Amino acid sequence: MKKFNSAIPTLSLILISFLSTYTQAQNTIPKVESLLAKMTIEEKIGQLNLVTPGGGIATGSVVSSNVEEKIKAGQVGGLFGIAGPERIKTTQDFAVKNTRLGIPLIFGSDIIHGYKTTFPIPLGLSASWDMELLKRTAQIAALEATADGINWNFSPMVDIARDPRWGRIAEGAGEDPYLGAAIAKAMVTGYQGDDLTAINTMMACVKHIALYGAAEGGRDYNSVDMSKIKMYNEYLPPYKAAIDAGVGSIMTSFNDIDGVPASGNKWLLTDLLRNQWNFKGFVVSDYTSVNEMIAHGMGDLQAVSALALKAGLDMDMVGEGFLTTLKKSLNEGKITEAEITMACRRVLEAKYKLGLFEDPYRYIDKKRPAKDILRPGNRKIAREAAKKSFVLLKKHNNTLPLKKDANIALIGDLANDKSNMLGTWAPTGDFKLSIPILEGFKNVAPNAKITYAKGANITNDSVMAKNVNVFGRTVVIDERSPEVMLKEAIEVAQKADVVVAVVGEAKEMTGESSSRTEIQIPASQKKLIRALVATGKPVVLVLMSGRPLVIEEEMNLPVSILQVWFPGVEAGNAIADVIFGDYNPSGKLTATWPVNVGQIPIYHSVKNTGRPQPTETFLKFKSNYLDAPNAPLLPFGFGLSYTEFEYSDVKVTTSEINQNEGLTVRVTLKNTGNYDGEEVVQLYLRDVVRSITPPMRQLKGFQKVFLKKGETKIVSIELKPEDLKFYNSNLDFVAEPGEFEVFVGTNSNATLKAIFTLK
Ligand code: BGC
Repeated sequence: MKKFNSAIPTLSLILISFLSTYTQAQNTIPKVESLLAKMTIEEKIGQLNLVTPGGGIATGSVVSSNVEEKIKAGQVGGLFGIAGPERIKTTQDFAVKNTRLGIPLIFGSDIIHGYKTTFPIPLGLSASWDMELLKRTAQIAALEATADGINWNFSPMVDIARDPRWGRIAEGAGEDPYLGAAIAKAMVTGYQGDDLTAINTMMACVKHIALYGAAEGGRDYNSVDMSKIKMYNEYLPPYKAAIDAGVGSIMTSFNDIDGVPASGNKWLLTDLLRNQWNFKGFVVSDYTSVNEMIAHGMGDLQAVSALALKAGLDMDMVGEGFLTTLKKSLNEGKITEAEITMACRRVLEAKYKLGLFEDPYRYIDKKRPAKDILRPGNRKIAREAAKKSFVLLKKHNNTLPLKKDANIALIGDLANDKSNMLGTWAPTGDFKLSIPILEGFKNVAPNAKITYAKGANITNDSVMAKNVNVFGRTVVIDERSPEVMLKEAIEVAQKADVVVAVVGEAKEMTGESSSRTEIQIPASQKKLIRALVATGKPVVLVLMSGRPLVIEEEMNLPVSILQVWFPGVEAGNAIADVIFGDYNPSGKLTATWPVNVGQIPIYHSVKNTGRPQPTETFLKFKSNYLDAPNAPLLPFGFGLSYTEFEYSDVKVTTSEINQNEGLTVRVTLKNTGNYDGEEVVQLYLRDVVRSITPPMRQLKGFQKVFLKKGETKIVSIELKPEDLKFYNSNLDFVAEPGEFEVFVGTNSNATLKAIFTLK
């Protein structure tokens, strides 16, 4: 018999459950406790039910039914997917005025990169390496969402992703746990502020615990199997950082871990989250992920719902397994009332922390949307965030920046488009508000001569077009033939001084359920690029994508390349700011770009192996490929500037430190080029010898600095004692004595080195 089906809990289980309930109830909230004392089992179970009435953009394949009746019957704890003070007020009334205890609802939403003021996709935002800016975007998202009555946000998504085939790499901060942890902290503190009851802050929900980004083969929702050492050292730090920053809630992931799906995984939800990390908030499932444990092979709905509750899951998103089976399981002795009460307590505590018991209508104010949503200042930050997210991948012949009176051929379907600019996971945004690139060019360079031609469809593959047009038509296959469009573009190019071709993915080529096995620029556009280059005109590629792409061929062409991700509502203006030199690009890649798909998974903090490849040349019996290099096309941390930076003189303040001491690393940075600019100074650490095989280098510090042209600065980066630590075979977080190498530079290939010893 499976563990979760056992009919009568043994005495020891009762004791353990009593003890853990007792210890966890230590810091209880009196208001919540007195409410719990009055609640029936049905009312408690009702609080564990999270529904979505549909009608907005679907984020899952089913929606909830009879929502109004269920709320009035006390069968709903929270709602997501609705917005606006009036609609939220009416819905809150159903709960507050029609149920016996009048417990308010919590209102959730997916505000992943901005509410109505849409910022760049998270992978793009992470490329800014600017924590204050990221925090500011989260504050604005909170200001706008709460103005529309929402008080709970399913963000930040902090899943480490080292497989660019996985479409949801777009939604996170890339491959690195150190940077990912810093971003998790910035986003959580941005959303939540220091007072969750304030009307312009909302509760964050870090997701998706855990390891969702490591789905096998990059196929969404696929299984994950990983050693604990890898988890603790490389995949868990961002979730933990969110918890340390006080995140109010956590969402489970769809995948299994050690053979047990996250939503029913007791090791994950209780041993790790509660006992090791001391998490005090509540845990919500992902969309129907409790029910999906049936397909995973964990039993029927009653069994998987009991498994989830016993594992430590508090709220059930959409699937209603909790609502429909927990009472039965209780009657059959498969779960305890204490377990239901504990889950309910955590949900009620969240409502209490948001101030909803004091005033269920505190986030509902009809005047706020007009006042707070899409404020000009908000859009200004969107433009700033977008231009700071762009990464200059290649410079050629000083083509960039362009002169503001240039004669430009602007080519590409994406160059005169609104529907793709917001990128994936922008369900609360409105693409009609976005600035197309053609418009942005005219705004920033009114004296330029700009001629537009489409040149090619985003893709000619009608099946792909159908698959990605799920949220509206973002790929439109032209009625004209590819040849006619190409000819028109070549003619336009021939009459111009310079060609700017905007190429790449449509927005839904990345995102949820958008994994790709080939991650090149679609063939239709590759052909267009080759034809434009063949005109002999200088060519700038503005590259749009939600993931690292395979662009070896394009990197070898005589072109300049600016990676712009999906820039959000201010897309056109921000791109024009950079193309015309009002802003000097400063973004750096946060996920490695492979030479080809065969190199995946790919990331910078790799281990040496016992048979490292000494040079780039193939050697038999070394760890290398017959047909491709080990090195990526573009390393983690890579990004150029219109200016040049020179690094020299890396020093550590002391060559020997004791346990629990830190030290400072200094480097001299000079702007040797012709433009003012910002540089992200990066520090990588190598623990030369340790008890588990060390990565060759790991990011352990960074600083974004501005230097005027010709200016020199000494940049100091602190290494804290915990930066030297890692989880050893016993999963103890330790620093082991010995030599450490510090590399400082402009990307993860940095070569300037200093050495110190830990005693
Ligand atoms: C996604 C989550 C999201 C949820 C609610 C799911 O499909 O995996 O990230 O928060 O839907 O919209």
